[in-house]
Amino acid sequence: MDERTNNRLFWQKEEEKLDELVKKAVWPGGEKAVSRLKKQGKRPVRELINLLIDPGTEFYELSRIAGFGMNYPDVEDVPCAGIVTGIGKIHGNWTMIIANDSRVKAGTYFPITLKKHLRAQAIAEKCGLNCVYIADSGGAYLPMQADVFPGEDHFGAMFYNMARMSAKGLKQVTMSTGGNTAGGAYIVFMACQAVMVEKLAYSFLGGPPLVKMATGEEITAEALGGADVHTRISGGADYFCKTQEEGILKVREILSMEPVQRIHCHRFEKRPPKVPAEEIYEILPAQVSRSVDVRAFIRAIADDSEFIEYKRRFAPGRGENIVTGKIRIDGIPVGVIASNGVGIIFVEAAKKATEWIVRCSYEKIPLLFIQNSPGYMVGSESEHMGIGKYGADMVRAVSCAQVPKIQLVIGPDHGAANYGMCGRAYRPNFLFATMRARTSVMSGKSAAGVLLSIEKRKRAAKGKPMTKEEEDGFYKKMMDKYDREAHPFYCGARLLNDRILKFSEIRKWLSMAFEVSLIKPIGEPSFGNFRF
Ligand code: COA
Repeated sequence: MDERTNNRLFWQKEEEKLDELVKKAVWPGGEKAVSRLKKQGKRPVRELINLLIDPGTEFYELSRIAGFGMNYPDVEDVPCAGIVTGIGKIHGNWTMIIANDSRVKAGTYFPITLKKHLRAQAIAEKCGLNCVYIADSGGAYLPMQADVFPGEDHFGAMFYNMARMSAKGLKQVTMSTGGNTAGGAYIVFMACQAVMVEKLAYSFLGGPPLVKMATGEEITAEALGGADVHTRISGGADYFCKTQEEGILKVREILSMEPVQRIHCHRFEKRPPKVPAEEIYEILPAQVSRSVDVRAFIRAIADDSEFIEYKRRFAPGRGENIVTGKIRIDGIPVGVIASNGVGIIFVEAAKKATEWIVRCSYEKIPLLFIQNSPGYMVGSESEHMGIGKYGADMVRAVSCAQVPKIQLVIGPDHGAANYGMCGRAYRPNFLFATMRARTSVMSGKSAAGVLLSIEKRKRAAKGKPMTKEEEDGFYKKMMDKYDREAHPFYCGARLLNDRILKFSEIRKWLSMAFEVSLIKPIGEPSFGNFRF
């Protein structure tokens, strides 16, 4: 079999594994859970979302594999983190949708649920999107209260964000269709406008059992804080609906008079690439450490397969490990910074990337980082040439660039290259992985080598040098650990990416993500002190 066919078959198989995991994530509890919902008069949460968004449009669901293998006390997996988040159009406007899935432990908040909720709010705030909450949650997952309740990034932050986003003019609309108890009740009361569904929704600071204990009063949930109580008596909610379907229509009506979004860039005519997306499966080597022809990859995602490369001739062999230039995605001009070859970043490549980031910032062109780099070049020659300071300049440019930034990981993603190529800590508007992504502080091989040398030294100092078998065993254990933790499933489960994209989906998702990221006007460039 030739190499390209081998690559294609390999990546298709890998993406089948993704499909299997996603299937598990979106059908928690299987048919039994769906029929339980039906008996309650409820639909599965994604059905509600499909009714909410404009007919014939797509829901761009984020972080679907969040929550797998979390190893919480008593709970190993929290499918989809118990909450569905994503972006869809309502009356033509991109809107963030955050919806509890009551099939997963009554939609309660585990640490990963919270992280996913807060990440969705962070995207909404950064991009200037209104938010719709479909609330159906038992509140904090009580056995883990210390990990979800009191901290800065814990339960209260959801409501803090709602208040601050609404102060910025971003509508926060809640449709309550289930329990909202104690702190959870604020998802209704903090909303700009709230819809409650009769007999399904209730909100109160203390539920009936707590009320009984505290005051002796015996009362049903409906009479304590149901839809009728809050829309007729307390005024804590604004619209009374009899069914979920009616509630969804009401949310659409509430948002029907929002000003129409526009994007802040000149959009050219949309043109498909000349190279089909299927090529990507053949271009990218099955072995992650192998050299990548990133120009071929770029041609498969760019309009007309056109890439206007900047400084192509600069520093042959050393400047080329990053390629820079402009492409259009569905007509949107985008500045590209892409790892090439094996992706090791030399001084010349770091300088070129920094220059390009600054240039795009002045031109107000959003940036796409295509990450496939195991790190900056090490060794005395590189250090003496200033890889530290030039790498730091690149990190400074990435940190300060005010334009929208998106990271797409298609290979190794290690060490400081994760910083310079706009990893999670550098606040990309969206961070997408693929099945080829490997994100860890260093490669398994390097980490195992470093740790083994330390262990050998310690054991020798104790007068008990390691045997060959012990060395091999130690090395293998470390390699396995790093391989597992760098994998996109492990990272996706922990929300270190916003979605694992299939190669065939990349262009569609980039198009949506850049469009959404350009709704807010781009600010003026301002960089701190470069070292140069
Ligand atoms: N913490 C931990 N687990 C919870 C929970 C919570 N707050 N709320 C529900 N669960 C668990 C249940 O134990 C059950 O687990 P199981 O499937 O392993 O048996 C699962 O979630 C489903 O709960 P269940 O009560 O069967 O679902 P329901 O649809 O009949 O009722 C609620 C949902 C939310 C009305 C109900 O579970 C409830 O009142 N929960 C407590 C709410 C509360 O007081 N929260 C305060 C937190 S701030």
